[in-house]
Amino acid sequence: MIIKKLGLLGISVLFGLYSTCLAQDDVEKRIENLISKMTLEEKIGQMNQVSFFAVDDKAIAQYSEDDMNTFLERMGIAGGQGQKKPSQMTKAEKVALIRQAAAQMLDNSIIQPVKAGGIGSLLNVTDPEMVNKLQKEAMENSRLGIPLIIGRDVIHGFKTIFPIPLGQAASFSPQIVEEGARVAAVEARSTGVTWTFAPMLDISRDARWGRIAESLGEDPYLAGVLGAAMVKGFQGNGNLNDPNSVAACVKHFVGYGAAEGGRDYNSTNIPPVLLHNVYLSPFQQAIKAGAATLMTSFNDNDGIPASGNSYILKKILRDEWKFDGFVVSDWASMTEMIAHGFAKDGKQVAEISANAGLDMEMVSGSYVQYLPQLVKEGKVSVETIDNAVRNILRIKFRMGLFENPYVDTKKESVLYADAHLKAARQAAIESAILLKNDNNTLPLSRGKKVAIIGPMADAPHDQMGTWVFDGDKNYTVTPVAALKGEYKDVNYVYEEGLAYSRDKSTANFEKAKQAAASADVAVVFLGEEAILSGEAHSLSNINLIGLQSDLLKAVKSAGKPVVLVIMAGRPLTIGRDLPYADAVLFNFHPGTMGGPAILDLLFGKANPSGKLPATFVREVGQIPMYYNHNNTGRPAPEKVMTLDDIALEAGQTSLGNTSFYLDSGKDPLFPFGYGLSYTTFEYSNITLSASTVPMNGTLTVKATLKNTGSVDGTEVAQLYVQDIVGSVVRPVKELKGFQRVALKAGEAKTIEFKLTTDDLAFYGRDLVKKAEKGDFNVWVGGHSNATLKGTFSVTE
Ligand code: BGC
Repeated sequence: MIIKKLGLLGISVLFGLYSTCLAQDDVEKRIENLISKMTLEEKIGQMNQVSFFAVDDKAIAQYSEDDMNTFLERMGIAGGQGQKKPSQMTKAEKVALIRQAAAQMLDNSIIQPVKAGGIGSLLNVTDPEMVNKLQKEAMENSRLGIPLIIGRDVIHGFKTIFPIPLGQAASFSPQIVEEGARVAAVEARSTGVTWTFAPMLDISRDARWGRIAESLGEDPYLAGVLGAAMVKGFQGNGNLNDPNSVAACVKHFVGYGAAEGGRDYNSTNIPPVLLHNVYLSPFQQAIKAGAATLMTSFNDNDGIPASGNSYILKKILRDEWKFDGFVVSDWASMTEMIAHGFAKDGKQVAEISANAGLDMEMVSGSYVQYLPQLVKEGKVSVETIDNAVRNILRIKFRMGLFENPYVDTKKESVLYADAHLKAARQAAIESAILLKNDNNTLPLSRGKKVAIIGPMADAPHDQMGTWVFDGDKNYTVTPVAALKGEYKDVNYVYEEGLAYSRDKSTANFEKAKQAAASADVAVVFLGEEAILSGEAHSLSNINLIGLQSDLLKAVKSAGKPVVLVIMAGRPLTIGRDLPYADAVLFNFHPGTMGGPAILDLLFGKANPSGKLPATFVREVGQIPMYYNHNNTGRPAPEKVMTLDDIALEAGQTSLGNTSFYLDSGKDPLFPFGYGLSYTTFEYSNITLSASTVPMNGTLTVKATLKNTGSVDGTEVAQLYVQDIVGSVVRPVKELKGFQRVALKAGEAKTIEFKLTTDDLAFYGRDLVKKAEKGDFNVWVGGHSNATLKGTFSVTE
């Protein structure tokens, strides 16, 4: 009878659940069984991750003479007492010595420790033959045959490079993000990488911070939804065991994006309510989505470095969120607690981190060196070690690494597969944001003559952006390359004007200007070299770097319409450039297929649909400025004073005592969520399913969205909410929903968002997440300054 009621689907769901439980039980049994056989040293070995960049023939072939000399001297093979100087050796001699030294290094620092069970994970090994060789040592030549987990930073693509994460976030598309991660996983796994250090879920409200490039923007909801999608993509939608999956690692836990002054690695001072509502929130979503691992961050928050913070690693992560994967430190972030002044030496580092619940140490070796002694002294318990090892083994078992540790080197290559390039192109299209389009300058007509100008028009390396360890610039298709290929019917002239973004020579400005004069329209490609964003690449000034603004002005002086195309790793202060551009298409570094994607957009084959995942400020001094801020008691009025409005010797209070800058006002240049299209959209008729919602109830918010222009387009419709009065001050607006809506020219659709009271819940002073009764505003629109508004109340 029950079976009849459930139907076939029900039975298979039940069976699925049952077999998952069985599988989990089985994993736990296997873990305990293995742990019971492990020596203390073998357990600590699992907690040790070592970086290994193979010095193989391919690497040696790329060494310059200087590199070789340095290698030989550093390794103590040449230049020392009684040794030949590198200058006295032939190249062949040097190569032979380097090979010999590399083999010895591999044996001493990797193979022997792996055989002894002293290494649980390696990072940076990407040669499949080497992966198999080392995995074989672990599986067949170590006492217990525990596979290695091989980590690599596969941040926005492995070989096929997708837009940087901040760009992917601009698509507001979980599908794009999931697909990008899937492609990255398939490519990376095919070379033996089984673990990536992504997604990066640090909320950043500061574009000076170079790592904003790797983030999914300033909003915790957007980052949470997209972070979960990325986890699914990497981990085969929950199937870690899939031979095309890699384990995800959510990072950096936590608060790293709030680095003081945007200076990388800096202290953060995030109080508990903010920490919970903003900085922890995307991590929680990604962990719910099944993220297998998590990385601690470099920063201290309120004086406690993350790698020694038991409150976040135990109380929040394990007790509250029930995370059962493993935690890895960031690169030497454990031993850096000595420089922080939180530990006096490596021994204390190991004690603090182990007791805080940090399972695996990335590269700094203090666990291997000190944990045996700390256990003997009773400062770290065997139970603590066992728990860390359980967490690590759990992921290795779930991934099926014990059964399937090797790479199939015979398989046909999937790197740069056509489908991957196609997905990367689509991601770049959906990630581009149209910021300005006066007089419908865009799209360009294919019959017009175009002057292509600027250092980013043909920059195959820089177009890929930061954190590209494996992508090959020879596969990048730049706009100029696309003009020579797929777009070869376009009549164009190319003058770079500046050779690279920091170039200080104006020597070619005149040629650039003449090129513009000879054409119907100039497209100027400016931005940032890849090296200007990413880790440790902070800037105190985020204008277009170098002389690029001057180049733009010079081109504009030719009198032709100017399209500014930017490729950058962060939001930039481009207010002063806008008057010199009739249209602006902003791309966060778009990756391998950025060139054709941008041309598709410029020539109207595709219509821009990206939206800003972070606020664009007018002046760097406005930072931090973000849409979901709390209100002051004195919010600025709609129109504020400017420097020019102030009378001489004006009275102290005559400007109004509200919160804004005299020189740059109260508003950003472009708000969060903003982005134009070649068509126009109109929102109307907001209706709510009820004016009151009981606790645990659901509200449906509907509105009409119409494409009021003459071309088809896709709009990212956004839902914002304000909890008007709270037990702690609530943000003026919070994103609670978004959807990409495709509309034909003239078409209208009713869009619908569901809001539960859970969606309205937040952490208050007691740090318990709950919704509060009271009145709410709700907006539906195309950006965070949306004005179409409704109101409702939550009741008991
Ligand atoms: C970065 C991490 C990265 C790790 C491994 C660190 O410097 O902060 O994001 O995953 O290196 O390469």
